[in-house]
Amino acid sequence: MHLLKFSEWKWSLVLSALFVCAAIFELDAKEQRMTPGRTSTLKKPKLGRTTNKRQRVEMVKPKIKPSAAAQTKTSLTQVLGRGMFKKVGETLSVQTGDTLSLRCRGKPVQWSFPPLVEEDEGRLMIVQQERFSLLTLVNTTVADTGEYTCYPMYCEDRDCRREYNKATKVFIFFPDPRELFIPSSSHYEMIQLRRNWPAVLPCQVTSPEAKVTLHREFPPGEVAVDGTEISFSNRKGFTIHRPRPHHAGVLQCVANLGNLMQSSTKYILIYVNYPMAPPVPVIQASSSSVAVGDNLRVTCAAEGERDVYMEFNWEYPAQQIGRPLYTEETMIPGSGEASRLQFQSVLQVDEVRDVDQGTYTCTAQNIQGAKSVSTTVKVVSKAKDKKLRV
Ligand SMILES: *[C@@H]1O[C@H](CO)[C@@H](O)[C@H](O)[C@H]1NC(C)=O
Repeated sequence: MHLLKFSEWKWSLVLSALFVCAAIFELDAKEQRMTPGRTSTLKKPKLGRTTNKRQRVEMVKPKIKPSAAAQTKTSLTQVLGRGMFKKVGETLSVQTGDTLSLRCRGKPVQWSFPPLVEEDEGRLMIVQQERFSLLTLVNTTVADTGEYTCYPMYCEDRDCRREYNKATKVFIFFPDPRELFIPSSSHYEMIQLRRNWPAVLPCQVTSPEAKVTLHREFPPGEVAVDGTEISFSNRKGFTIHRPRPHHAGVLQCVANLGNLMQSSTKYILIYVNYPMAPPVPVIQASSSSVAVGDNLRVTCAAEGERDVYMEFNWEYPAQQIGRPLYTEETMIPGSGEASRLQFQSVLQVDEVRDVDQGTYTCTAQNIQGAKSVSTTVKVVSKAKDKKLRV
């Protein structure tokens, strides 16, 4: 009884200590938010330094060894001015040319952001402070549009890894009244369409307010975007969810905002016959036991798509002594969908000899992969065979 009470008391002590810690932390956070004059933890980053920021991001190492306990989910705020913060939602718009300042709670943390060309690396700066990491991007352009993510790091000794499930992200638009699409480096972009693999036309807009439509060059016309077969997201572009051959052609996105109308890069969509999966062959010998002098047939079959190349390769016991390979390959309609076929390769062994006894392996291959199957065949002498039958 007494012991139990003591342990209860101990627990309440631990809990209240935790509570006090949490309260101090909260207070501190509030204080930071409410005292704009405080500069010790919110030093204005010195911009224009030419160290390689990206490397620095990768090399963040904790000075103190964090406990094995994982960090909590990060939280992202936009720094609007000295001591002025705004919690970010899913998206954010920052006028091009302005400075983007994001603050993420956690130590250590890592950031990911749209790729910067080398000459632009000087525009980015990341500073790890006591409990926050501050990302600053100056002289922003439409090309900075994209996803900005802050990952807390889980560290054990010196090994740190990103905790993806505790990351916080925000999609940031950098609208420019003259550029409705994020510029592309080329006039044309080739996109492969494969049956049932979603294809994305990455015409990303710089402003969430822009109205975007999809157009076909020939025959000219607007493509219906029903949200199911084809959908649009202002963070991604158009997605063709289950491509079919009729989706192929030259397409272009058109954005409208105010009295401005602009076209994106041209997308050349090419439909390719691509297998859904590696083949799954099945092997079968005409008989698992053959008499010397008889004929043997080993059949290897796999289902595949029409117009998709499938190759069969064989390994057989008499290969080592140079017995030539006789195969016969056929295609017959499959039992299910019309687009599926049954591919078959039959290995013929005429006048079986002792050397033909052993393992027969067939490998079926398409561009997605290869799979092998084997079966064993026993060769028996004719005489012995007769004796057994008597
Ligand atoms: C930002 O733009 C200003 C004005 O064009 C320029 O003087 C400054 O060097 C730029 N800063 C960086 C880091 O590129």
